[in-house]
Amino acid sequence: MGGNVFVTREIPKEGIDLLRAKGYLVTVSPHDRPLERDELLASIADSDGVICLLTDRIDAQAFDAARKAKGFANCAVGFDNLDVKEATKRGIPLSNTPGVLTNATAEMAWALLFAISRRVVESDAVMRSGGWKGWGPLQFIGGDVSGKTLGIVGAGRIGTAMAMMSRGFDMKVLYADEMRNELLENKLGAEQVSLDRLLAESDFVSVHASLLESTRHLLGASQFALMKRSAYLVNTARGPVIDEAALVIALRDGVIAGAGLDVYEFEPKMASGLADLRNVVVCPHTASATVSSRSAMSSTAALNLIAMMEGHRAPNCLNPEVYKL
Ligand code: GLV
Repeated sequence: MGGNVFVTREIPKEGIDLLRAKGYLVTVSPHDRPLERDELLASIADSDGVICLLTDRIDAQAFDAARKAKGFANCAVGFDNLDVKEATKRGIPLSNTPGVLTNATAEMAWALLFAISRRVVESDAVMRSGGWKGWGPLQFIGGDVSGKTLGIVGAGRIGTAMAMMSRGFDMKVLYADEMRNELLENKLGAEQVSLDRLLAESDFVSVHASLLESTRHLLGASQFALMKRSAYLVNTARGPVIDEAALVIALRDGVIAGAGLDVYEFEPKMASGLADLRNVVVCPHTASATVSSRSAMSSTAALNLIAMMEGHRAPNCLNPEVYKL
C-alpha cells in the first residue's frame, strides 16, 4: 500500500485528508489554474494514482505519461474530458462523482431560470449604477414561471431533480430522453416527448444531457427556431451540447426570449457577442459549487482512487470492464 497521488489542482481538503490518512503521499498542483499540457504530463509521470478535473484532458498521451498510474479519478460527474475507450483498452480504471452534486446543479438550473426570466441581473445592474429613478409599471417585465411548461432535455439524475423541484410551481413537465423516466411520470405526470415537441411546447427548456458525440450541438439554429419566442433556455450540463454561436444569433434576433448559462462551448471563453446581450445570464461553471457538494466530490474522488489503488473496483467506476480483462 501507499504510493504517490497527484491532484491536478487544489480541491476541498476532505479527499486529500482521506488519501493521506491511508498513507498516500499526496502532491497537489501549486497553481490555481488548470495545468498546461506539458505541466500535466510531467506532473503525473511518477504517480500511482491521479485525481483530475474536468479541465484536464486525460487521453492516450496522459496514460503514456503516467505509466505507473493504477487509475484516474475525475472530480466531476461529467467525464467528457476522459478517453474512456482508450483507458479501457489499456485496463486503466476511471471514475467520476455522481450523486453528490445532483441537487446543487438542479438548484443552479433554477437559479438561472429565475434570474433570466425575472431579469434579476439586469435589474441589479441598474440599481448599482444609480440608474433607477423609482417604481414604474412597465419596468423589467419578465416571464411567468408558475403554471408554465418545463422541458427537460436529458432526464437523468440532475434533470430528474430539476423537474422534481418544479412541484412548488405547479408546472407541466415534458422530458426528452432515450429512457423512460417512471419517477417523473408517476410523481409529476410528466410526458416523454420528442425533442422537437419539447422545444415547441416548453416555456423553459433546461438542458441536462451528457456531452457525447450524439449530443454535440443537439441544440442549434433549427432547434431554436422551433421554440416559442417567449421561451427561455437554461444550460447547466456541458457547453458543446448547444451551438453557442447560433445561440447568440437566436438571442440577438429574438428567436427566443433569453438564456441562463453555466457552461460554454469553449470554456473559459464565451462565444463572440454573448456578453453584449441583455437577455442572457452567464455564470462561470459553478453549478456544483456549494460547500457540501464540492466537499463530497472531493471525498468521492478520493474514495474511488483509493479503491483503484488498492486493486478493488471503484464505487463509481466508469469502465468496470477493466476488472474482467
Ligand atoms: C461539473 O460540471 C461536473 O461535471 O461535475
